Amino acid sequence: MKKKYENNLDMETCSNGMLEVKNLTKRFGTNVVLDNISLTIEKGKTTVVIGPSGCGKTVLIKHLIALLRPNSGEVYFKNRRIDNLNENELNRIRTHYGFLFQGGALFDSLNVTENIIFPIRQHCKITNWREVEELVKAKLAMVGLDGFQQFYPANLSGGQRKRVALARAIALNPEIILYDEPTTGLDPIRADVINELILKLQKELGVTTVVVTHDMTSAYKIADRIIMLHNGKIIASGDADHIRNHPHPVVQQFIKGQVSEDDLAVLRMSGTISQAQFLPRDFE
Ligand SMILES: Nc1ncnc2c1ncn2[C@@H]1O[C@H](COP(=O)(O)OP(=O)(O)O)[C@@H](O)[C@H]1O
Ligand SMILES: [Mg+2]
Repeated sequence: MKKKYENNLDMETCSNGMLEVKNLTKRFGTNVVLDNISLTIEKGKTTVVIGPSGCGKTVLIKHLIALLRPNSGEVYFKNRRIDNLNENELNRIRTHYGFLFQGGALFDSLNVTENIIFPIRQHCKITNWREVEELVKAKLAMVGLDGFQQFYPANLSGGQRKRVALARAIALNPEIILYDEPTTGLDPIRADVINELILKLQKELGVTTVVVTHDMTSAYKIADRIIMLHNGKIIASGDADHIRNHPHPVVQQFIKGQVSEDDLAVLRMSGTISQAQFLPRDFE
């Protein structure tokens, strides 16, 4: 089946992106997670990376900000190679990024204001506190949480915590925002608030956006372009309609939330095993 669809892999052609990944391979031991991937993230657009759990979405997005280094291949930010920079150089580059990682952890011991200014403090010494207060107010207003400055994370809902993490991600006016599973763990309404915020930030700030998700409702709503990862490769890349109508059966199974034949075989087998285990006891 793999062979048959090999020719249908959507190839990358654009070369003028905000971020570029060239022939990236990442292995952990013998586990090849990303297998010679090339990808361009276009400026000002929202790119959504989809794929089942464990397919390498987080590993890919971490390479975009050089939190992981490839075994081979290169990563470029605005035509500057970043995968081989040292941590000092990277810290400067990372001020152009905002990121909201899986779990989106806020610091529990810091209030909302202190959480939001954390990245600012890492990069400069704050002298004008009035200005900082205004900045925090503006960032919180963008996520609909002005007035929550003194709250601690424990007193916020899950959705509010994500929004504070978002306010923190935009504290340094980033050009790129990376989101890893921003709607996971939220009910559909709160998830949609996050989708709307992602759209709003992209429109109002003109930021380049990369979102990793397995939530297709979210992907269709926010994406200019969707990329699907499977077995270390990009097997599909295009707008929502292109993905909806994609001929690859793995893409169709994923977007429709269907169980694959392989998974079914495992389930049937485990059914037989548990029956075999329980049968003798049933007859005791
Ligand atoms: N630091 C690590 N060390 C070893 N294996 C890792 C590490 N990070 C990720 N992996 C492996 O890489 C694969 C992809 O993981 P990940 O990118 O987290 O998947 P997901 O698509 O769910 O985000 C998994 O098999 C995972 O076990
Ligand atoms: Mg992940």
